[in-house]
Amino acid sequence: MRRLPPVLIEDGCSRELVSLIRTILAACKEISFRVGQGALSGVLGSTLDENIQGETQKKLDVLSNQLLKDILLESGYVKAIASEEEDFTVAGNPNANYIVAFDPLDGSSNTDINSLVGTIFSIMEAPEGSDPSDQTIFMQPGHKQVAAGYVLYGPSTMLALSTGKGTRLFTLDKTHGSFLLTQDFAQVPEDTKEFAINASNQRHWTPAMQSYIADLLEGETGPRGKNFNMRWIAAMVGDVHRVLCRGGLFTYPEDRKDPNKPFKLRLLYEANPMAMLVEQAGGIAHTGRERILDIQPEEIHQRVGVILGSKNEVEVCLGYHK
Ligand code: F6P
Ligand code: MN
Repeated sequence: MRRLPPVLIEDGCSRELVSLIRTILAACKEISFRVGQGALSGVLGSTLDENIQGETQKKLDVLSNQLLKDILLESGYVKAIASEEEDFTVAGNPNANYIVAFDPLDGSSNTDINSLVGTIFSIMEAPEGSDPSDQTIFMQPGHKQVAAGYVLYGPSTMLALSTGKGTRLFTLDKTHGSFLLTQDFAQVPEDTKEFAINASNQRHWTPAMQSYIADLLEGETGPRGKNFNMRWIAAMVGDVHRVLCRGGLFTYPEDRKDPNKPFKLRLLYEANPMAMLVEQAGGIAHTGRERILDIQPEEIHQRVGVILGSKNEVEVCLGYHK
């Protein structure tokens, strides 16, 4: 394989932003190592705690969060961080220009079965003169992200990164510890015959989603006139990676299982960064009501419906929601 240069992020990014991304990647390399060690690292299984969202914390959630938090706050490049595993935002360097929201280990229920997990991150500019302990500095719509990415800890460790000029894929060369560019300008195919949804929630979906999926399942003799295949990794990072590589529609839609919790995925550190990566690769990311990147956040751990992927297929799905 041709060797391509390690994470090159020219594209007019500030040196500080490039250094910040490299800082995040340094923590991700460590997480990659720990995840790869599996049972040998003694960090599989759960802690006795729950995070603020009532989810059981895995030991690897806590470890990944600590690694990212420590390295980011020590780096001096961030004014504040927001993490899935932190109840509130954490203040950093008051003079720094960037803020970072992250999901330290997405899909962490997969850790104990040696399946896909990943780190998702979103970088925005801190408003000038803002107070690092003011949570509202994170209340910016996703189209303000200056960079977004994920690191997928799979058979190989891969980085998907966008700084607003396309989405690039890199593979970690574990022999010398660098992320090497392996796909410049990923493009999500416009059409697809593949979808991803947790079908066990079917009875709780909205009527619009029920009828869209019912039509897909009818296959070539139904209204869509073609057979569809289904995939579900139970880690958004894995499902979105497949969409970036070969297209598809991924959704975690609104449901009525728990009236107090109609959505599952979090806006700031799951939906927004994935939406930027997918849009920058030619796909669409929507809630069914609006473009994800246009949502004005109101809370750090706010949840949203997510429908993303191949342009033409997402448009068909959105047609059912009108
Ligand atoms: O972070 C939430 C998450 O783990 C996503 O990564 C994933 O897509 C989804 O939840 C899985 O949900 P479920 O447990 O319903 O399959
Ligand atoms: Mn997650």
